[in-house]
Amino acid sequence: QEIIYKNEVTSTQEEAHEAARKGAAEGTIIVADRQLKGKGRLGRKWESPPGSGLWFSLILRPPIPPQEAPQLTLLTAVAVTEAVTEATGLQPQIKWPNDILLNGKKVAGILTEMQSDPDRIQAVIVGIGININQMEFPEELSDIATSLKQESEGTTYSRADFIAILLSRYEYWYHHYLKHGFLDVKKRWEALTFTIGKKIKATTVTKTLIGTAVGITDDGVLLLKKEDGEIEHIYSADISL
Ligand code: BTN
Repeated sequence: QEIIYKNEVTSTQEEAHEAARKGAAEGTIIVADRQLKGKGRLGRKWESPPGSGLWFSLILRPPIPPQEAPQLTLLTAVAVTEAVTEATGLQPQIKWPNDILLNGKKVAGILTEMQSDPDRIQAVIVGIGININQMEFPEELSDIATSLKQESEGTTYSRADFIAILLSRYEYWYHHYLKHGFLDVKKRWEALTFTIGKKIKATTVTKTLIGTAVGITDDGVLLLKKEDGEIEHIYSADISL
């Protein structure tokens, strides 16, 4: 496994995509101190100032069909959540599909992208951003974002120690997943989420749905039970309570 460290990049996702296209091995990691254009889900930007956060992308080459790739997003959320607890003693909650929250504010985000042929994955690029030591955020984020430091009375955490803990949780879950399948990952994800069982509002590109989140499918799709009892499959949406 190779870890490539850069001072400044546009986005570690872009660097990892390029490395993967050039044949980089599974497990290759690109980590940067600063991203000029950090990417979030749904075309959003991800604030990535130098010094305070952990911004990296991991290259995987899983022997699974492309439609199962969303399972890796949930697996990543489990690994990140467990790493936060191991490093800090704090207990984050997962918001479907992949936001990691502490006290209702986002401390980490995950962006999973794929290079694939119709029936075969070439590479999955898992981008992980964790707010570690920020003490303040830009105005528009201050109500919705937090850091490990903010949530633990100003304790500073080592980014190197944190990534080591995270990679060891990741390795555990990834190997377990490849060997035994998605079921245990799904159970663990369900235990760490607060989305399931709640009445939620799901805003998709085309519509807004209200109902109770009743579970996820084996592909990681969210199941929403509407007032009329009908079940909707949610593939991509913003969730609010
Ligand atoms: C989200 O919650 O919207 C996902 C955020 C993902 C951010 C990480 S930081 C490292 C990697 N490089 C990027 O440009 N984005 C991801």
